Amino acid sequence: MFIISNGKMLIKDQFSTRNLLIDEGKIIAIEENLIETGSKLVDRVDASGHLVLPGGVDVHTHFDLPMFGTVSSDDHYTGTRAAAFGGTTTVIDFVPMSPPDDIKGEAEVFHRSVTTWQEKARKAAIDYAFHMNLTRYDAEIEAQIPDLLEMGITSLKVFTAYNNRLRLDDGSIFKALRLAGQHGLLVMAHCEDGDVIDLLTMEALQAGHITPEWHARTRPAWGAVAASLKMITLAAQADAPLYLVHMNTAGEVDMLEYARKNKVKVMGETCPQYLFFTEDVLRRADGAKWVCSPPMRQRQDNERLWQGLEKEGLQVVATDHCPFFFDGTREINYEGQPVKIPGKELGAINFSLIPNGLPGVGDRLPILWTFGVGTGRLTARQFVDLNCTNPARIFGLYPQKGALQVGSDADIVLWNPEKKVDYGVAVAKHRTDYNLYEGWELTGFPEKVYLRGELIVDGDSWLGKAGQGRFLKRLPGAEII
Ligand code: URP
Ligand code: ZN
Ligand code: ZN
Repeated sequence: MFIISNGKMLIKDQFSTRNLLIDEGKIIAIEENLIETGSKLVDRVDASGHLVLPGGVDVHTHFDLPMFGTVSSDDHYTGTRAAAFGGTTTVIDFVPMSPPDDIKGEAEVFHRSVTTWQEKARKAAIDYAFHMNLTRYDAEIEAQIPDLLEMGITSLKVFTAYNNRLRLDDGSIFKALRLAGQHGLLVMAHCEDGDVIDLLTMEALQAGHITPEWHARTRPAWGAVAASLKMITLAAQADAPLYLVHMNTAGEVDMLEYARKNKVKVMGETCPQYLFFTEDVLRRADGAKWVCSPPMRQRQDNERLWQGLEKEGLQVVATDHCPFFFDGTREINYEGQPVKIPGKELGAINFSLIPNGLPGVGDRLPILWTFGVGTGRLTARQFVDLNCTNPARIFGLYPQKGALQVGSDADIVLWNPEKKVDYGVAVAKHRTDYNLYEGWELTGFPEKVYLRGELIVDGDSWLGKAGQGRFLKRLPGAEII
């Protein structure tokens, strides 16, 4: 049992001094006045000068994910450690579908896929849940969708791009939405136009265009808008909830707002990279660092996404953390060990071979605080809602996660709003050789991070452990907000 005293907690929209009593990993009391514990000797952590925030909930990560002939460079330990240093204490990671088995075919495909991911995630240092990618669809697979509920997985991701790999046809997506709706599952959608992308990519390569900017030029924003609208119309017809991941264009925000106004049960997420960068970064000599799908867009898209956050048209900020090394031929030192993992250099002479994805899980809260709250674009309440509470509500983790309430897990960040940080790869703890926000001056940073009452980050010190994270089984029928 211990007390966190004299920190400022968000009460409705204002910060007020509160004392929190923590026992067995839970918050058991929140008091305005000093908490009396009688004769019992209880440790006190003085949080004066700090904000007491709920741990961040990042519902979009890809740890240890094989793709593009390599693997995303953070595994479930290094990625969750980096998350914790950035104030995030819960992640939801995507499980890819295992290939059909030689003997059993598609039998038990979700069980096999989830077992593989549970093995990998065993070393997570913060709490975690899973989404299931739905990248093949037939009657046999359909019949197994309810199995996911037993495994505590209540969300499925579908793709309208990556033809012949991850994409489902519209009819299958409709069937999946309808079934998901009946079972209280949430379908998440990656929205791009797979047909146009494939054609433009082939034409670009034939014309000898090999540089990273062609990644964006072959994935037009209108394709994302059209695919978002298509997904929305399918969800409306299936009367099922929908969640749009990594929204990146102004038109998508318009579609989302239109659909919500018309009572379609759709919610949307964007990621910090889409708020700050444009496709111009791809023309830099190190442009491959920013290659992800969907790609960076234009300044007006950044602006419209910000408006979406400010006006509550968008519900969630997540990261789509899927890091690769910029130069995977060179070792870095990670926790005293040399590491090198093939990365962006794999696409040095062909943009379509650059591994798609970026680091971000540890960056989200500090970046959004400085450039959202610090600039007055977001209130502190919006910051907490977008990064902690809303994701927990939408994905069935609230109020255990994403909130500081009596009975919630004691996942607590003591946030120093005055702390100045010269941010970059040396500060962020991702297992990669670069950071998107290199040299950015931040004001406000997590100073102490608790996971279920255990101090796991204390300034620069890592006190967490591999395997300390627990798998969070989720129940169906989570909130639609
Ligand atoms: O480029 C990205 N975003 N890679 C991760 C996979 C995805 O589509 O979210
Ligand atoms: Zn995606
Ligand atoms: Zn993703």
